[in-house]
Amino acid sequence: MVARVNTVAFQGIQVMPVDVQVQIAAGLPAFTIVGLPDKAVGESRERVRAALSAIGLALPPKRITVNLAPADLPKEGSHYDLPIAAGLLAVMGVLPADELEAFTILGELALDGAVSAVSGVLPAAIDAVARGLGMICPRACGGEAAWAGELEILAPASILQLVNHFKGSQVMGPPEPKLADDDGVGRLLDLKDIKGQETAKRALEVAAAGGHNMLMIGPPGSGKSMLAARLPGLLPDLTPEEALSVSMIHSLAGELKDGRISRRRPFRGPHHSISVAAMVGGGSRVRPGEMSLSHMGVLFLDELPEFARPVLEALRQPMESGEVLIARANAHVAYPARVQLVAAMNPCRCGHLDDPALACARAPRCALDYQSRISGPVFDRIDLHIEVPALSAADLTLPPPAEGTAEVAARVAAARARQHARFAAAGIVGCRSNAELDGEALERLVAPDEAGRALLTQAVGHMRLSARGYHRVLRVARTLADLEGAEDVSRIHIAEALSYRRIAAGR
Ligand SMILES: Nc1ncnc2c1ncn2[C@@H]1O[C@H](COP(=O)(O)OP(=O)(O)OP(=O)(O)O)[C@@H](O)[C@H]1O
Ligand SMILES: [Mg+2]
Repeated sequence: MVARVNTVAFQGIQVMPVDVQVQIAAGLPAFTIVGLPDKAVGESRERVRAALSAIGLALPPKRITVNLAPADLPKEGSHYDLPIAAGLLAVMGVLPADELEAFTILGELALDGAVSAVSGVLPAAIDAVARGLGMICPRACGGEAAWAGELEILAPASILQLVNHFKGSQVMGPPEPKLADDDGVGRLLDLKDIKGQETAKRALEVAAAGGHNMLMIGPPGSGKSMLAARLPGLLPDLTPEEALSVSMIHSLAGELKDGRISRRRPFRGPHHSISVAAMVGGGSRVRPGEMSLSHMGVLFLDELPEFARPVLEALRQPMESGEVLIARANAHVAYPARVQLVAAMNPCRCGHLDDPALACARAPRCALDYQSRISGPVFDRIDLHIEVPALSAADLTLPPPAEGTAEVAARVAAARARQHARFAAAGIVGCRSNAELDGEALERLVAPDEAGRALLTQAVGHMRLSARGYHRVLRVARTLADLEGAEDVSRIHIAEALSYRRIAAGR
């Protein structure tokens, strides 16, 4: 007799259906799993055997074969334990095979029969809704699955609970969708803490309003890391659809804590010792990298020149396409990665290039060496280059600024609303901020007036702007006009946008 149970395999954020077929046949006692299982799936035999014996069931002394179909799709991860156990229980007549067929099953088993959390429950649940199935997943992931929509969810804490549910002796209620409480660190940091640095704060506001990439250069202790940490507070919350697509990636990486979904934009600040695989994704077991984990949010690279060169160069292609493509021997895996890059760096190794009293003897030579660790193309992808100078004693004794995160965030929200209205009126889909405007839509929506155009043409020659640089100036100018509430992009907006590119031009 053969029992069939549905589960899934993941390829990037794609969910592939997997059919778990379990057969118990006459023959010498054996328990084999076929269908390209990786080591974790192969070891699930031992966990399943132990978990069943924990509830007082011994495997029959016969030939047990588990086939994971399709046979040529590699199966990775620990979520195959529960479907294999459920298939075995169905074949043994403990669980009703016909009722199980209406579910997608995911879960890892502990030796005592408990069902432990696994990654990828949210995308699997969304796929189950599309296929008209219900879902059986670990108790810890029930809240996550509940976000997927209308589907029947069973979230047992142990395999015994699942058996009792089908027997009718202990019926489980549906899990509730859970939201992460949003009073995390990001909310608490206020722009009011930052004294002086008005230019940098203005640039931060522009970056938040248009989703622009930003680079801060300045001496140590001037407040660069402080400024970046206050960006999440300025950004608008994710829409429910955006939150779902961001959470899908976090679910695949096993980073959704307690199955809770957050409406805050992700903010990731990886350390500069990060490897290429950790940054863009990949590795022997492909999982999303920091770039994908900050999808629709902020990727903050502090001490930019300290990152390994291949790591920085690996950012180039995803920054343009908004997607990371990982080629493996047997498959191509894609993860979305539409990020806003914020970087901070010192102008040179000692950090005091502009202060003759503090600069080291090698200035300005050391600045050239230090800054040349970042290639031109990486600089070119950053819209706003700003200097964050050292604070004077007078600045430090200033009273706290009147304007804080609340006021600036309100202006950012208004500017974003203006952008959305414009995109909707122009029939542009899939564009969420000015930074994502491209091609024909950019030409159509950002048409500077006569004086602005003249200034821009002049600047292209003088500043040796690349075509990309030219388009980036246009996008920033559009954001500046939006912040002001102006319908048209004029000379003053172009001039301010050009002022944010001077560092790249001076290189
Ligand atoms: N503008 C500022 N207003 C108030 N405090 C400041 C300001 N700038 C710096 N500080 C103080 O200095 C500390 C260090 O600031 P921060 O870490 O942001 O510097 P940084 O520019 O990132 O330096 P580094 O280049 O060394 O990383 C802050 O924790 C804060 O106490
Ligand atoms: Mg810092």
